Amino acid sequence: MYLKTAVQRCFNALGWQIIRLETFRTLSDRAESQAELSSDQEDQIEKKISSELKKFAIVSKDGISTVGADSPLHDFYLMQRMPDTYVTTMPEKRAFYRELFDEHAKIAEPWYDPVRIIQFMNLIDIANVLPEGDYLELGTLMGHSARLIWRLMRSDGHLYCFDTFEGFADNDIEEENKLFGKKISVGMLPAVNLDEVKDCIDGGTNADNVSLVKGWFPESFQGYENIKLRFVHVDLDLYLPTKAALETLWPCLVPGGVMIVHDYACSLFPGVKKAVDDFFSSLDITAIPMGDIQESAVIIKSGKPQ
Ligand SMILES: C[S@@+](CC[C@H](N)C(=O)[O-])C[C@H]1O[C@@H](n2cnc3c(N)ncnc32)[C@H](O)[C@@H]1O
Repeated sequence: MYLKTAVQRCFNALGWQIIRLETFRTLSDRAESQAELSSDQEDQIEKKISSELKKFAIVSKDGISTVGADSPLHDFYLMQRMPDTYVTTMPEKRAFYRELFDEHAKIAEPWYDPVRIIQFMNLIDIANVLPEGDYLELGTLMGHSARLIWRLMRSDGHLYCFDTFEGFADNDIEEENKLFGKKISVGMLPAVNLDEVKDCIDGGTNADNVSLVKGWFPESFQGYENIKLRFVHVDLDLYLPTKAALETLWPCLVPGGVMIVHDYACSLFPGVKKAVDDFFSSLDITAIPMGDIQESAVIIKSGKPQ
């Protein structure tokens, strides 16, 4: 009951309503739900009711989406929230969150992960106030998460995006399959067009504070060894490059700097957790799960920002 109230409050704060579709089967139930819907919205709900798999509807100003009760997304959706301060005292943050969410729902997956967006907002805020350092993403693909970083980072900072831009490398895959008995193949990720990636990140503004660095990591890092970083996002999926990323980039992170490693608890890519746990336990550091869908890990480098 408490959870139900909490969920309803969160959705109300967002200006959304969450409705159990079963309760719309009779008019009296409709009244009880206290939902104020336009006739268009009601029509859409009626259509969605026809599917027994669909249990919940999320109603926003943009329309109605449903999440099947048997889908893992169902639980993820219920858990989403925004900090109370965004609602009560920081309306500009709330509006910005909404803008980022809507943008990512369009450019990335239809169920783009709202927790990931909130956490990037909070964690990049922490990195932004440090006295020095640039921003780096390792594993950029089409540029979706890099776009998020670029929108949130200081405008006087620089974002470096490292990737083969041709998908996984043979030797990384070979090791992954050997270690974890997987059947990951080279063709799993597409080669991408660098101009399109750049346009995705800076919205076609031809910004000079984004660089794409093409090549196999760690080789591609040659020449960048002395870089100082305030924020790092690692999203490489596989054990070998993730291990290399941590060993190479951790020394470049300034005190107080933030590192996020995507897919920390993703069952498809167990090597990420192994690389993170092995590396940070050897330093007596605990990585904290971020609570997003693929359970990224967050690590903040201790020490006084200089
Ligand atoms: C899951 S995708 C990144 C998705 C992206 N961060 C996003 O959220 O939109 C993983 C990327 O890691 C890159 N990658 C994997 N191993 C690599 C390596 N050893 N060197 C460079 N890039 C690598 C792949 O080419 C792929 O584009």
